[in-house]
Amino acid sequence: MTLVSLRTLLDAAQAGKYAIGAFNCNNMEVVQAIVAAAEEARSPVILQASQGAIKYAGLDYIVSMVKAAAAKATVPMALHLDHGTDFNTIMACIRAGFTSVMFDGSKYEKEENIARTKEIVKIAHAVGVSVEGEIGKIGGVEDDIAVDERDAMLTPVPDAIEFYEATGVDALAMSFGTAHGPYKLPPKLDLDRIAAVHQKTGAPLVMHGGSGVPEEDVRKGIELGIRKVNIDTELRQAFLAEVRRQLAERPDELDPRKIFAPAREVLKEHIKEKMRLFGCAGKA
Ligand code: G3H
Ligand code: 13P
Ligand code: ZN
Repeated sequence: MTLVSLRTLLDAAQAGKYAIGAFNCNNMEVVQAIVAAAEEARSPVILQASQGAIKYAGLDYIVSMVKAAAAKATVPMALHLDHGTDFNTIMACIRAGFTSVMFDGSKYEKEENIARTKEIVKIAHAVGVSVEGEIGKIGGVEDDIAVDERDAMLTPVPDAIEFYEATGVDALAMSFGTAHGPYKLPPKLDLDRIAAVHQKTGAPLVMHGGSGVPEEDVRKGIELGIRKVNIDTELRQAFLAEVRRQLAERPDELDPRKIFAPAREVLKEHIKEKMRLFGCAGKA
């Protein structure tokens, strides 16, 4: 199956009122775990690569691995750039075969973010590539931001509506209480904010920082309009926990495959659980 656009996956998710898992990948074992999970769960899936992943693995390797997986896959898959901040990288991804890109212009003032996002949308849509935009800053748990400061960072509903309508993005990331990285305390989601933006615009909303969000909140968010859930930290944790366990059990092991194969298996099972939670399992 060839890779499909994010828009294709989101339209189906919107109609079926579920969310699609967007899983970060940096290496072959993670790509294989994500795709095997999608096949076994009969789920559409988004494989996403950050600029850091591209720097680590190489753009050509990321695209080749994902295309190799897609060629054999029987479920629809999209390849998405996660948090693209650099115009040239976004263009390189489009050219290399990504079917979706995120432009993260959250560091700019609203007007400039809108203008820059619109430019990306114009180019990407001309060649059938989807775009995710971000309005309001989604921080990292490591940023050490006080709770009242974090509340002040939540995206104002009118800003989210204006941004979505002005830019024509296919998916909208905004700040509603989640953060990237491992939470020290469970996050407090502003579900009303999600509902207000989705009800007014119908925008497919993206939950960044999906790792460690309590299951009940994930379910409620999806009921209210979340259509894409980003998971990275939990994949890192699950994979490395098994790598550590294997190394501790067999400290003299010389074959990395003996360590990585069980870690890939653990990761696959973890991703399947997420697909069941998001409601995308059984939708392909
Ligand atoms: O949101 C960020 C993702 O978890 C990617 O992280 O830049 O370390 O690849 P990274
Ligand atoms: P986590 O690493 O917190 O799961 O966040 C992933 C993410 O939002 C990628 O864009
Ligand atoms: Zn993110």
